[in-house]
Order: sequence, then C-alpha cells, then structure tokens
Amino acid sequence: MAQAGFIPAHPPRRDRVGPFWSAFVGEHARNAVTGWSNAAFEDWYTKRKLLRLTVHIPRHPDAIERVLLTNAANYAKPRIVKRLIAPLIGNGLLSADGESWRQQRRIVAPSFAPGAVAKLTGLMAQAAREGTAKWPQSGTVDIAETATDATMAIIARALFSGDPRLMTEDAGRHITAALEAAGSARLAAILGMPGLRLTPTAWAGARGQRFLRETLTDIVRERGPEGGDDFLGGMIRDLHERFPRSEALKLAIDNAATFYLAGHETTANALTWSIYCLAGDQQAQDRACSEVRAAIDGDPQTLPDRLPFLRQILDEALRLYPPAPRFDREALSDDMLDGHPVRAGEIVSIWPWVLHRHRKLWDDADRFDPDRFAPDRERERHRFQYIPFGGGPRTCVGARFATVEALVILAHWIAARRFALPPGREVELSAAVTLRPRGGLWVEVAPRD
Ligand code: HEM
Repeated sequence: MAQAGFIPAHPPRRDRVGPFWSAFVGEHARNAVTGWSNAAFEDWYTKRKLLRLTVHIPRHPDAIERVLLTNAANYAKPRIVKRLIAPLIGNGLLSADGESWRQQRRIVAPSFAPGAVAKLTGLMAQAAREGTAKWPQSGTVDIAETATDATMAIIARALFSGDPRLMTEDAGRHITAALEAAGSARLAAILGMPGLRLTPTAWAGARGQRFLRETLTDIVRERGPEGGDDFLGGMIRDLHERFPRSEALKLAIDNAATFYLAGHETTANALTWSIYCLAGDQQAQDRACSEVRAAIDGDPQTLPDRLPFLRQILDEALRLYPPAPRFDREALSDDMLDGHPVRAGEIVSIWPWVLHRHRKLWDDADRFDPDRFAPDRERERHRFQYIPFGGGPRTCVGARFATVEALVILAHWIAARRFALPPGREVELSAAVTLRPRGGLWVEVAPRD
C-alpha cells in the first residue's frame, strides 16, 4: 500500500522548552496540546516545578508501564485533580482510589463486557442513522456536532433509558462549558485557590457543573433504592448492597455524572478525528468504504469484527488525536522512573499526546498511516507506547463500548457519504480536558455512488 500522504493538523512546536511561566499565561495555560517543544517528542523525561508542585513527565514506555501497571499501587489519582473534579464527578469510579474504587469497578464492569456491549449495536446504528438523516446530500457539515449528538443519545439510551433531560441541547451546552472551564480551574488549583473563577469561561463552567449535578441528582433520587431496569438502576441497587445508604446515594450520583461525561465526549472526539483523517486521505476512505459495503448488511452484533481496516483507521486516529491527551498520578512513596528519583507527593503526568507522536517510537510520527496498525505489525510496538485508553488496572472501563460504538457509527457514515476537507479551512486543536477541534470540524459531504 502506498504511503497515505496526509499530515493532519497539529499545533506548531517550539525550538526550545518554554519558560516556566508559560504554564500560567496565554494559550498554553488553557490548551494542553500547545506550547510543546520539539525536544519533548525526542527526549524521554522532563521534570518541572510549577510553584508548589513538582511534575514528572516520563515518555519511555518502560516508565509508563511502571506507573500504570508494575508499580501501579504506588500511583494514585492526584489530590489536586480530585479537588478539581469533585464538584462534577465526586468520588465516582474515575476519581476513587483503594477499596472504594475496587468495589465500584466490580459493580460496573459486567455492563461493559463484550457480550453486554454487543447487544447495544442496534441502538448505536440507529443513532448513526439519525445523524446522517440531518445531513444534506451535498454540502458542508460540522462533524463534531453530529458526533456529539450521536454519542450523547447513545449514552443516554444505553445507560439511562433515554431520560429526555440528558438529551437536550441545553445539556450538551452545559457539558461543553463544564469541560472547557477545566483549563482555568486547573490553573486556579495550581495557584492553591481552587474556587477562584478567573474568566467568563470559568463562570459558564460552574453553571454547567451545577446543571449536571442537579439534573443527575433528581434522576437518581426519583429512581429510589430499587433503581429501575437499566444500567443506572443496576448500579444503584449494587451500590446500596455494598455501601451505607447515604454513601450509596452520593456514589450513584457521582457515577451517573462520571459515565454520562466520560462516556460520550471522548467517543465523540474519536469519531470526529477519524472522519477528519479520512477526509484528508481519500485512498484510505475508499478502502474503508469497500470493506464497509461488504460487511454492513450482516449480523449487527458482529459488524465491528468484520471491519478490520476501519479498526486500523480508528486506532490511528486515536494515536494522532488521543481524546484524553493527558492523565495524572501522584506518587504515594518514593520511586525511580527511568533513572530519575520521584518523591512521595510529586505528580507524574502521562501524556498520550506526546507519547503517540514520539519520534523515537513512531516512524514519520505526524503522518496519518492506518497501516501501522496492521495486525502483523503489532509486535513492533511496546505495549505502553500506545495508550489511548490508559493501561493497567485503571484502564478505561468503557474501552470496548467506545470501540464498538465508534466502528458502528463510522461504518454507517462512510456508507452514506463521501467526506472531503473544505479548501482553506484551518483545523485548530483545543484541549482543556478532552482533545477536540475548536469551533467544530467542518467537512464537505457528497453522495456515495
Ligand atoms: C474513545 C473513547 C474513550 C477514551 C479515549 C477514553 C480514555 C480513557 C482513559 C485514558 C482512561 C484512564 C484515565 C487514567 O488512567 O487516569 C479512562 C478511564 C475511564 N473511562 Fe474512558 N475513554 C473513552 C470512552 C469511555 C466510555 C465510552 C466510557 C463509559 C461509558 C468511559 C468511562 C471511563 C471510566 C469510568 C474510567 C475510569 C476507570 C477506572 O479508573 O477504573 N470511557 N478512559
């Protein structure tokens, strides 16, 4: 297969490492994927001091493996991050540690096992078709908007029986505001003033958080301890069996918020970046379309298994644009990472954004090339150089759900239209929490012959 030849957008890189204060002002303070130096994509380790915080950024896959897997017990979710996200997702699965985390993970894991996810493919296909029904035959569409509508409908239907309060445009706006505010909230937390709201974005974010918390509190309370007959209901019942009543109620709300947020925004971004890459590489798009046409009319539950090349495209889009571009840990006791001492209380920051484009780990790292993920090339990779879903015991519980959902939706979209990039339109990246295109992502659609 010839080289795809498409180098999708990424922010410019500096020749030198930026000064320490660049973490606090300007675009870099708000947007995690800007301001990186070329050296970051070639070296293995950085240690920085941000006021009271010492932050380690390892990039060698062995060091990542140590943090996430072999010495995972020594690395907890950082207290500073927990304080930041507590108003939104409390002590739910994403932020809990220790025994509480173990119990919660045991409760929800069966709902995300392959058999349970396969049963949702019909619902996923329906949401995909609702999206294409709104597109013109030919014209320009914001793929990010369609993707968000689809994944929001799926999470609301699959986990919350389609509660209409979670599917409104208002709910969508509030989630976006809550996530976009995270950049300035992080800054305030580093400054030691977590409640400080520095910008209008921060105030909109606080309103978004309040809306989500209040709506989900109403939904959980209305269900009562019996819960009801869906994912939320099962979780409420299991939590009541394992935790005291008031803690169970709070954890039910925390996890409703966790799954509602973590469960759709990330996958929407994965879809958006996949279509962007395909729109830039017509050859890969044609190959994917042939595969989809041969596969789409069979059993919907096994459709994702019949789409190996589309899976390679998704994997490659998740490499170039990891929807979670960073996540952090706090060392509980002293450790060594890649020959560097890490003290208890210091932060270790894991950066899929940098790891996935590291020049010593990937050939032609910025190029879109789905053939990197051909099955016979898996042996060329270290298990911890590609971590869009994290790794080790805290690996994304929704990884299978997200992968199946993305493949089903992409298949329906590719079958329905051809995608191309509109000339002259720049794509800008924004990463407060998730990696999304700023101001949406516009592509041209045309009928498939
Ligand atoms: C493409 C889509 C997705 C990506 C890229 C993604 C990425 C991640 C990553 C990197 C982590 C690990 C964070 C860490 O170690 O600190 C994580 C954890 C998690 N994800 Fe996802 N995620 C996706 C979709 C989903 C979906 C669909 C759900 C639920 C429906 C979900 C729910 C969660 C939860 C609850 C955790 C915490 C797990 C734990 O700590 O035990 N995610 N995700």
